[in-house]
Amino acid sequence: MENIIKAERLKKNYSSFNAVNGISFAVKKGEIFGLLGPNGAGKTTTIRMLTGILKPTEGEVHIGKYNIQKESMEARQIMGIVPEMADAYIDLSAIRNLLLTGELYGIEKEKSIKKAENLLKMFHLYEKRNQKVKTFSKGMKQRLILAMALMNDADILFLDEPTSGLDVESVRLIRDLIRKFNQEGVTIFLTTHNIKEADLLCDRVAIMNYGKIMAIDRPEMLKSVIKKTSSVEVAFKNLVEEKVFNFKEIIEVKKMGDKFQLYGNKMEDIILFLINHSQKTNNEIISLKILEPSLEDIFVKLTQKNENF
Ligand SMILES: Nc1ncnc2c1ncn2[C@@H]1O[C@H](COP(=O)(O)OP(=O)(O)O)[C@@H](O)[C@H]1O
Ligand SMILES: [Mg+2]
Repeated sequence: MENIIKAERLKKNYSSFNAVNGISFAVKKGEIFGLLGPNGAGKTTTIRMLTGILKPTEGEVHIGKYNIQKESMEARQIMGIVPEMADAYIDLSAIRNLLLTGELYGIEKEKSIKKAENLLKMFHLYEKRNQKVKTFSKGMKQRLILAMALMNDADILFLDEPTSGLDVESVRLIRDLIRKFNQEGVTIFLTTHNIKEADLLCDRVAIMNYGKIMAIDRPEMLKSVIKKTSSVEVAFKNLVEEKVFNFKEIIEVKKMGDKFQLYGNKMEDIILFLINHSQKTNNEIISLKILEPSLEDIFVKLTQKNENF
């Protein structure tokens, strides 16, 4: 498949601070592509450069055949954008907001009304279409903003943290609709700090931290990194020393207050080892938890990996 988004050596400095540090990647037509990273990673800065809202310090962006800097008007015609801090006009009704967006895109009135009503139904807002947006919950507002971005039949949808901080129902509906529009041929570029979201939605994910892309891969490949960073947290009744954990399957030991966090690949073996130790020394295990690796664990892992090469 052809590339529909192409970023080359993109860089953004805010005075002397380097928010995005020379990243390159391409998104294929029809993909759901996620930019995954913690707060401050540079995701919003990146998406704002991709959509032509922010001028890069260096580098280039192509949207389809258009250079976003030089041909932003043409490029905008095929893009729908949901910014991080997006807002609708709160003193207008939901349908007025959509029709206004339609006007902005120069869509003919009849067509605009049909389109708006259709989107309101899809986003479960039809019953509330004549209500002022200021009465809407955060989830309802975000659904409306997404609907607004879809008024012009975009080929590519840019979503900056589309489900962050929303209620469970809105999150589910938004994810379902992202998939649905993607199936109908819309390329999706989204940012998220939520690894589960990236896993659930994306064909490919770029992991970003400190303004750099650490890895680009399919979620399943990222998960194989996760597996390698599984850990067990254990606390014994009588305090033990770190050297107790001298066992071939334990790769790393971290002391966390009165507990220890043990990293390794074979959790079952590590747990058996701990139970054995407990019985042998007559020292009761008072807590034992298998910890899901955090996003941070993966970043640490990936950063280490990069440094080693
Ligand atoms: N307008 C700005 N001026 C100065 N620093 C900024 C500005 N916008 C963002 N930053 C900084 O750039 C870094 C990346 O920010 P951002 O792109 O918003 O990250 P993310 O969306 O991943 O949370 C952060 O350290 C942030 O504080
Ligand atoms: Mg952001």
